[in-house]
Amino acid sequence: MIQRIFSLLIVLFCALTLHAQKSKQFTPGEIWPDNKGKHINAHGGGILFYKGVYYWYGEHKIAGKIGNSAQVGVSCYSSKDLYNWKDESIALKVDEDPNSDITKGCTLERPKVIYNAKTQKFVMWFHLELKGKGYYAARSGVAVSDKPTGPFTFLKSFRPNAGYWPVNVQPYHKKPVSPDVKDSYCGGKGCLPAPVDSVNLLGRDFKGGQMARDMNLFVDEDGTAYHIYSSEENSTLHISKLTDDYLSYSGEYFRVFVGRYMEGATLFKRAGKYYIIASDCTGWAPNAARSAVADEIFGEWKELGNPAVGNESETTFRSQSTFVLQIQGKKDSYIFMGDRWTPDNPIDGRYIWLPIKFENDAPKLYWQDKWSL
Ligand code: GAL
Repeated sequence: MIQRIFSLLIVLFCALTLHAQKSKQFTPGEIWPDNKGKHINAHGGGILFYKGVYYWYGEHKIAGKIGNSAQVGVSCYSSKDLYNWKDESIALKVDEDPNSDITKGCTLERPKVIYNAKTQKFVMWFHLELKGKGYYAARSGVAVSDKPTGPFTFLKSFRPNAGYWPVNVQPYHKKPVSPDVKDSYCGGKGCLPAPVDSVNLLGRDFKGGQMARDMNLFVDEDGTAYHIYSSEENSTLHISKLTDDYLSYSGEYFRVFVGRYMEGATLFKRAGKYYIIASDCTGWAPNAARSAVADEIFGEWKELGNPAVGNESETTFRSQSTFVLQIQGKKDSYIFMGDRWTPDNPIDGRYIWLPIKFENDAPKLYWQDKWSL
């Protein structure tokens, strides 16, 4: 009997130590358990570093196709080492009120959070599609919180830069827009009847605001924040400077990669240069990533090609970019974060995190089954 109790105790002890064992490596594409042993649920995510802690925000998905719409809200996890993540619960909840822009069942994608040192607020931006309206609303949503883990309060959703022309507007954008230019096309590649500038979507959306879908935030060394998003029916990226409080657009923005249909855009800085890693526009299906470099944030941007190298590089290792994380206190250390989407059961989506190598100042991604910093 005593022997049995003893062996039971040993089994229990082993189980507990195994559970408490900390992970010391990344295993891209595998289940990634949080502190409660559950697969991390923060898709299309991004990371904020604040006072020695990393906070990972992302779309909280539920099982089944319905999980592609927002049924819960935006998740938050915290970590000090980037391998082990604590579930901090839901940072921004969808609203039960059917009249709210972020009512349960809306589409709330690619949330990102930045910290404003002047106002001491945490500011969240996300791509919002109104419930039941497909992908036609193409709005930006903004929420704020006093704490990184939330709760965030939803402030507003709107279309960018209504009534403002971009810095690099062309004279033909300001001419009257033909009445056959529709309010919305299918949003995918190949939907527009002609090249984007001949259709003049910029002019079409001047009054009501430009479209904003896949998006990211970037804070420069001087504290200026920028919003980068797929606009003009996804055909063209806009980079918009935000106001000092990070809550609105300043009205100063630039069109980049016209007609290149870039999605999942990430923006980061290395050795004084700006970089973008983005994807092509093929819905949930993965495609070959793109990369680009510029000396100034508004350009000239020079494309550097697909950063992925080797097997499965044509699908970016079956993933789509969502964020590039610069590691604090480690020179030249950047992580590419991508999503391996599973739209039939989105809660099972996997995370593809890979180190970025720079070869001749161009970012490169090599597959690794396991790796550590
Ligand atoms: C992808 C986009 C995702 C989501 C999806 C919907 O291209 O990156 O964030 O919007 O399309 O089909």
